[in-house]
Amino acid sequence: MAAPKVAALILAAGKGTRMYSPKPKVLQTLLGEPMLQYVYDALEPVFGADVYTVVGFGADQVEAAFPGRTANFVVQAKQLGTGHALQCGWDALKASGADYCLVINGDTPLITTESIERLNEQAGKADLAFMTIQPEDPAAFGRVVRDDSGKVSAIVEAKDYDVAVYGPASGELNAGIYLLRLDAIEPFLNDLSSENKSGEYYITDLVGMAVEKGLSVEGVQCGADVSLMGINSPYELAISESALRRSIVTKWLKYGVMIHNPETVIIGPGVKLEQGIEIFGHCELYGKTKIAAGAVLNSYTWIKDCEIGAGTEVKQFCHLEDAIAADNCIIGPYARMRPGAVMEDDARMGNFVEMKKSKLGRGAKASHLTYLGDAEIGPGVNIGAGTITCNYDGKNKFKTTVCEGAFIGSNTALVAPVTIGKNSLIAAGSTITKNVPDESTGIGRARQENLDRSLKKS
Ligand code: UD1
Ligand code: MG
Repeated sequence: MAAPKVAALILAAGKGTRMYSPKPKVLQTLLGEPMLQYVYDALEPVFGADVYTVVGFGADQVEAAFPGRTANFVVQAKQLGTGHALQCGWDALKASGADYCLVINGDTPLITTESIERLNEQAGKADLAFMTIQPEDPAAFGRVVRDDSGKVSAIVEAKDYDVAVYGPASGELNAGIYLLRLDAIEPFLNDLSSENKSGEYYITDLVGMAVEKGLSVEGVQCGADVSLMGINSPYELAISESALRRSIVTKWLKYGVMIHNPETVIIGPGVKLEQGIEIFGHCELYGKTKIAAGAVLNSYTWIKDCEIGAGTEVKQFCHLEDAIAADNCIIGPYARMRPGAVMEDDARMGNFVEMKKSKLGRGAKASHLTYLGDAEIGPGVNIGAGTITCNYDGKNKFKTTVCEGAFIGSNTALVAPVTIGKNSLIAAGSTITKNVPDESTGIGRARQENLDRSLKKS
């Protein structure tokens, strides 16, 4: 007999009222990545393309954040509760041909692939299995009720928990991750009622209903595992985010990255580092950043989606985004690389230099107070202090080309489109509006006159 097919359904339609944010909760970020991304990353290895998502509040924003996944989105137009969200996703699950479905709250970003596999294994042949946690603080999680023999009899939401009816709470809580056999649950899926303190259809009521119907129900106990904690408030987000931050920094330290003052370093989950990098505290690395061995990142540096080559030093207070610095470059202090900035080997950019969609060739230098936008700077070029590429006329952007070996004097405005030839010199203080040929000098400024104190020619 073929192994049963299992699909996954993420419940991600809720607003996240307790976040007090206009953003849908599943788009709130941990280390720069939205919660929902983490859930996808954990599910992907087990379920491949069979991952469905129920969206609702801010659905357009969620769709915009995950454009490649919208084919498997199901809309829950009114958010009537987690049970209703499951009802909304049911047809898609059935159409996928699945026998079982793993249902997971979208606000559980630290979930791991291993935990999912463990639930799959420990659920055995149960008709309905779910994971339980036992954290120190039960917060508002659903309470798991077991009978005297230890068998699960229900999940009761915190608001609805009545000690007189259920006895003192055991501290065992519902993690919001369930494995359902579709054929077993389908007959009573639509019997859920909203008669409770929240007026919502709870997925958790399916547990008590399944027990009453004599189905096999398993609560898989996972202890105080922080990776199974749902996030409902800024406080809970901070707890999960700092646990994740710590675990990622620890992983890189153990791997052989030297991190000084590690409690002040933030490294996103998609960042790739090599052994022999040195990072000084108060640095943030996000997105798909890749850093090579021997690079040094000094304090107060913020980097996202960049490649930093071997032996390159980023000095203090730099902001680098979607940029590439090859090997043995020096950046900063106080430098900004904007999207499309590229430094070839041995290039340097110093304080208050901004680059956007520009290349600084091998060994070229822009050491002080410069803007390079839409510019191609050849190898060995020296860009003097205060050089500005005037790349924008209010409507369009134009390119500046400075060929190999040229020397741009201080306080030069290069009005694009313009090309400065090989080994040419631009006199300080020039405004250059015409191309300068190779091996030439370009001067574009008023000649100095010395007048007497009453402004008469002497
Ligand atoms: C839920 C469980 C609770 C469990 C906890 C674990 C219910 C009724 N309660 O509570 O037992 O301990 O998770 O973290 O399920 N959602 C929808 N549509 C809706 C409502 C919610 O898709 O109409 C989504 C939310 O986006 C969220 C998830 O379902 O990702 C859970 O909703 P949430 O409001 O966070 O439930 P909890 O109160 O945390
Ligand atoms: Mg929640």
